[in-house]
Amino acid sequence: MRMKGKVALITGAASGMGAATARLLAREGAKAVVLADVLDREGEATAAAITKAGGTAHYVHLDVTDEGQWQKVVDGVAAAHGGLDVLVNNAGISGSAEQDLYDTDAWNRLMGINATGVFLGMKHGIAAMRKGGRRGSVINLSSISGIVGQAYIHVGYNASKGAVRLITKAAAAQHGREGIRVNSVHPGLMPPMRTSGRTADPEQRAKTLKGVPLGRAGEVDEVAYAILFLASDESSYVTGAELVVDGGWTAV
Ligand SMILES: NC(=O)c1ccc[n+]([C@@H]2O[C@H](COP(=O)([O-])OP(=O)(O)OC[C@H]3O[C@@H](n4cnc5c(N)ncnc54)[C@H](O)[C@@H]3O)[C@@H](O)[C@H]2O)c1
Repeated sequence: MRMKGKVALITGAASGMGAATARLLAREGAKAVVLADVLDREGEATAAAITKAGGTAHYVHLDVTDEGQWQKVVDGVAAAHGGLDVLVNNAGISGSAEQDLYDTDAWNRLMGINATGVFLGMKHGIAAMRKGGRRGSVINLSSISGIVGQAYIHVGYNASKGAVRLITKAAAAQHGREGIRVNSVHPGLMPPMRTSGRTADPEQRAKTLKGVPLGRAGEVDEVAYAILFLASDESSYVTGAELVVDGGWTAV
């Protein structure tokens, strides 16, 4: 039971890697897993399935771009469960559906959800961890797109994921003495996001696959296990790190 006694809040948890992480942290004995998303019906259903399987979970509505909602959700988690131990900033949108890779509205949307959403999560999540006087672990979902550029993705996606990589390191430097660890996870070729365009195209995926040393796409649970390690006490001396989960794509 690698999550025993821990309270975790996961954004973008209605589907994909967020849902897989919620299921895994609950299976590993978390005291409570709070799933947050804007897709209420799917989020409720994911939380209900976890509860049915014997975990402790519930769903809350949270648009990560809305600071008022962050404050309310984090206060609610602390009041209901006595504090916050683990925050997974996972919510995000893809930059691969845009035709114009310099579209200004897309830039603002990508930076708003993928970068500002993580900033707000760290601001309110870390404040709650400090208030409770407990050690904590923050895991921010970046991407291989936060490490290298790609020709077919809106520059705002790379910029937002690069921002996540660096604000993670800044927060690790700032909060280490308080026992709060902050790390980033960088998935590679995974099942497409709900908002994917070109990265969901079989032809583009086949091209990307050629550069993956392990010779296959990743699975959502393989990212969830990386997050579990960073959320658990097994990673107690790991902070400011970027954990790449890409089958070796950025290694070559
Ligand atoms: N799938 C990939 O290929 C891939 C690769 C690298 C990194 N990532 C990153 O991993 C994370 C999870 O991606 P996924 O593949 O599970 O995608 P997904 O589209 O399945 O899940 C993303 C979730 O975020 C939620 N979300 C979107 N905007 C939100 C908002 N404003 N507030 C709250 N929730 C919001 C969505 O409703 C959705 O449930 C994202 O940050 C993504 O950028 C994905």
